[in-house]
Amino acid sequence: MIDTRPTLYLSRLLPDPIMAIVRERFQMVHEPLDALPSLSALRKGLCQADVAIVTLGDHIEAETIHAATRLKVLANYAVGYNNIDLAAARQRGLIVTNTPDVLTDATADLTWALLLATARRVVEGDALVRSGLWTGWSPTQLMGAEVSGKTLGIIGMGRIGQAVAQRAVGFRMPVRYHTRQPMATTSLPREWEHRSLHGLLGEADIVTIHLPLTPNTHHLIGARELSCMRPTAFLINTARGPIVDEEALANALKTGIIAGAGLDVYEQEPAIHPALAQLKQVVLLPHLGSATVHARVQMGLVCLENIDAVLAGRSAPNQVQ
Ligand code: GLV
Ligand code: GLV
Repeated sequence: MIDTRPTLYLSRLLPDPIMAIVRERFQMVHEPLDALPSLSALRKGLCQADVAIVTLGDHIEAETIHAATRLKVLANYAVGYNNIDLAAARQRGLIVTNTPDVLTDATADLTWALLLATARRVVEGDALVRSGLWTGWSPTQLMGAEVSGKTLGIIGMGRIGQAVAQRAVGFRMPVRYHTRQPMATTSLPREWEHRSLHGLLGEADIVTIHLPLTPNTHHLIGARELSCMRPTAFLINTARGPIVDEEALANALKTGIIAGAGLDVYEQEPAIHPALAQLKQVVLLPHLGSATVHARVQMGLVCLENIDAVLAGRSAPNQVQ
């Protein structure tokens, strides 16, 4: 019997419940692996597919987009889509979709985990206990920075920035935020006060970044911005690595311009700036923002919903351009 199911290219293995749906409903171009495909494997796969799900490590360049002539929809398994040449997609009429909303809580929660771990030296504490060198409670051991009541500065007030701000209530933290584009701030609680970027950097005890990566946000936080921050302040980044100039950040940390940093994302993932890995006042996570079972399954379902809409001739609910 002829298999009339559409062909799907999936660049990585997704959680089991999504794999079960995908295997039933589509002809798979190939059996996906857990590892990132090579650029040539990615191109080859996309060229054979009617629809595709790709991840944030897959760089989808203009050449690939133009070569993949059968492809109708590219569902990015992420909210950020800086990995895709959108201009080329637009030009070629390829629909690109993302997965907003379903990972907002997971990413906001992880931001708080990283913020608290950085300020309260959680990773150093864990290492001390495991080392066997802990000699018991001490009045001066691993003292960190108080979080409750401090001023939280949020750069980017999209869904994730707002979810981070909502969680500040329990910590009685005044929220200052910066958005590059004017937004309907009337919809935001009045206690959250808008600041210029430099105003926010000078005022906040903890600065957290929640912006997409675009040419305008690349290295938005560099040496000059870091020098506006307080020497007691912390920088948290769960958005995209290249928004921060990592070299400048490493220098600011080494010279005490700021007190510490919590990073979930890096300029050249998975490579880490070597100086950052040497510093105790930095907590480094392996891009875990959306890494909950719930969010990762929902992200798969959102990709499938968008693919179904396009295959049925409807508009994709999460088209990004
Ligand atoms: C994760 O980084 C995402 O953009 O979904
Ligand atoms: C992500 O969903 C954002 O808009 O911040």
